Amino acid sequence: MMKRISIAIDGPAAAGKSTVAKIVAEKLSYIYIDTGAMYRALTYKAISKGACLESEGELMEILSATEIELLPGESGQIVLLDGQDVSTEIRMEQVTNSVSFVARHEAVRKEMVKRQQRFAEKGGVVMDGRDIGTHVLPDAEVKVFLLASVEKRAQRRHTENIQKGFPSNLDTLMEDIARRDKIDSEREVAPLKKASGAIEIDTTLLSIQQVVDKIMGLTLERIG
Ligand code: CDP
Ligand code: CDP
Repeated sequence: MMKRISIAIDGPAAAGKSTVAKIVAEKLSYIYIDTGAMYRALTYKAISKGACLESEGELMEILSATEIELLPGESGQIVLLDGQDVSTEIRMEQVTNSVSFVARHEAVRKEMVKRQQRFAEKGGVVMDGRDIGTHVLPDAEVKVFLLASVEKRAQRRHTENIQKGFPSNLDTLMEDIARRDKIDSEREVAPLKKASGAIEIDTTLLSIQQVVDKIMGLTLERIG
């Protein structure tokens, strides 16, 4: 039997992480974990409860009483928050614009990392986020850092929003993505950065298939 390894995919917003991670996981029959969805789910719950996102104490009180489950679905991952499907709600603009403030807190990250490591215990996992190769799965056999120009990433998100029938403005998206990247890269705890040993792939001019092929190539090299 082929060895079941861990694959860590990190990178800035809208670089294509979740799209390619999901396809790679399907090809290998691995589980796929979108860690961004976990921070988004907590942010959604905190906003719904009117919590102060600056308060680590308030956020931790909520997180300790929160169950987040990630299930494979037909068109992407299904996110259950305390048993309720919030897959659409966690992509709302209000959540997107607040999530990086929630993800800055050390105690929140510590708890999320613990839960993510538990999901990956048995191997056979593709996990995407910002700190997977650096903190969550530092021993992952394959580490990838996906990049693309901010213009291209905003354009892709814009196209995606229009396809889904969501309101979308390209200039606002570009500003929001750049602002989120800055907060994620400059925070003190587990900032977004390329892990040592990670292979950088600039996807600006690559199709989804080309990126998937590159990651599959790296993976097959490791599992023989
Ligand atoms: O899909 P998109 O690139 O818009 O973002 P995401 O992967 O859903 O992540 C949303 C936010 O969660 C990021 O901007 C980070 O602030 C935070 N995040 C994080 O801090 N660490 C992770 N491992 C994943 C996400
Ligand atoms: O997970 P992350 O935020 O990094 O990005 P994503 O949600 O997987 O990808 C953002 C959008 O870019 C999606 O609509 C993908 O279909 C699209 N995409 C693309 O057009 N070409 C790629 N090489 C990768 C993603």
